[in-house]
Amino acid sequence: MRCDQTAAWKALIAHADTFKSFDLRSAFEQDLERFQSLSPSAPHVWADLSKNHTDTVTEALLIELARQTGLEAHRDAMFRGEPINNTEDRAVMHWLLRQPEGTLSGALAAPLKQVHDTLKPLLAFAEQVRAHTQITDVVNIGIGGSDLGPQMAVLALQDFAMPGKRFHFVSNVDGHELAGVLKVLKAENTLFLIASKTFTTTETMTNARSALAWFRAQGGTDVARHFVALTTNVAAAAEMGITTTFGFWDWVGGRYSLWSAIGLPLAIAIGAQGFRDLLAGAHAMDQHFQTATMENNLPVRLGLLDVWYRNFLNYTSRSVAPYHSALRRWPAYLQQLEMESNGKRVDRNGHALTYDTSPVLWGEPGTNGQHAYFQMLHQGTDVVPVEFIAVKKPTHNMADHHELLLANAIAQAQALMLGQADEGGHKHFAGNRPSTFLLVDELSPTSLGALIAMQEHRVFVSGSVWGINSFDQWGVELGKVLAKDIHVRIATGDVDGLDASTAALVARVRG
Ligand code: F6P
Repeated sequence: MRCDQTAAWKALIAHADTFKSFDLRSAFEQDLERFQSLSPSAPHVWADLSKNHTDTVTEALLIELARQTGLEAHRDAMFRGEPINNTEDRAVMHWLLRQPEGTLSGALAAPLKQVHDTLKPLLAFAEQVRAHTQITDVVNIGIGGSDLGPQMAVLALQDFAMPGKRFHFVSNVDGHELAGVLKVLKAENTLFLIASKTFTTTETMTNARSALAWFRAQGGTDVARHFVALTTNVAAAAEMGITTTFGFWDWVGGRYSLWSAIGLPLAIAIGAQGFRDLLAGAHAMDQHFQTATMENNLPVRLGLLDVWYRNFLNYTSRSVAPYHSALRRWPAYLQQLEMESNGKRVDRNGHALTYDTSPVLWGEPGTNGQHAYFQMLHQGTDVVPVEFIAVKKPTHNMADHHELLLANAIAQAQALMLGQADEGGHKHFAGNRPSTFLLVDELSPTSLGALIAMQEHRVFVSGSVWGINSFDQWGVELGKVLAKDIHVRIATGDVDGLDASTAALVARVRG
């Protein structure tokens, strides 16, 4: 049933009315169990949700909403391999990529076998590259899901990466990016990974062709040793002359593909065992998502809170604040994961929605953000829920730095909530600003795997309640088509039929 037709939705509208006077400070005074009831945990991740604009009634109504919209049945359909990506008629099985070998029977046994038959040579190749001292530089050429996941993870796990190899990520069609990277490389020391699910994406194809041309111009001849394609379209890679390939399947969405061959840069960085640990962490979260009751299910609680904020309290964005500098690409990664998945205006059957979907996600690592836009979070006119992520144990031994970092994260959450009522004017902080605090013991392959899978499932939860297809991305197509036309017009100067603004821009960039 459409979420806005359910009894729970109506009850939530009424309940949201009472939140006009909700105050976090009094909520803690009135409910001594508040922290206990709002601090769920999952494998490798603990969450403090208690500083959010929610209470036990809200949580119960949201779970009702999940039940009435068939969240559990939809989740189970995904884990049965049904084609829930209905607009592309595809199954959604990124979770299968982290399922241990030989653990499924029936229709999923064969694809699981394929997954492991592909994973083993992929990881063996990663180990070969690690052992190959001549290769000092690995360049990943890919964009969107073929860039953001591996880039975020290679950075996040830099302390687990082998020394002696540098990793570069080239995504933009802007030649400044590729030129800047090539400038510091030598052909004989470089391995290019051309990462593209479709092997048709203009940016990646353009960068790949230029990288090949550069390699040959440098005297490079052994393309098979220096270029690897990571793709579901092996034929297109072969056409480009790239014969070393690692494949995956159309049931892996681009933004969910880190666990597939697209994860090769990470596997080279942290090794086969590290990659297997990442998969194990994600699998533990998959099991939690599948088996924990809704009340104890962290991705469910987070996804439902997102719905509550977006549709009932009308918060339009979420600020993501990882208090770990290695997680500096985490916000960018989440932007694609959540906004490309749930930035939709029609339901699964193509009918226009009458309620809002994906919030805007944005952020920077703490404490940097504190010295930039946190002003607005504390005293701006919009209420923006903040999601802190902190890591208990650092991988360095400068304890004073880490204590300061953690103190800042906790203090920011506290300041947002408590405010400063006894000061007037410019020094007044109204407080009562919501935040979530996620804590992991250490940032390791296992915990990162769990964190990412948690985010994937959380996006699934809100998308499922909204009744949208979280696994297509038709909204990226129009710009691609128009760019092809404008590309020709920039070359020829033909502005016929264009609107006045576009015509002027074309003329201006030519002049
Ligand atoms: O244009 C959007 C998109 O299709 C993303 O969904 C995807 O992650 C990215 O482009 C890259 O696609 P590919 O891996 O096929 O090059």
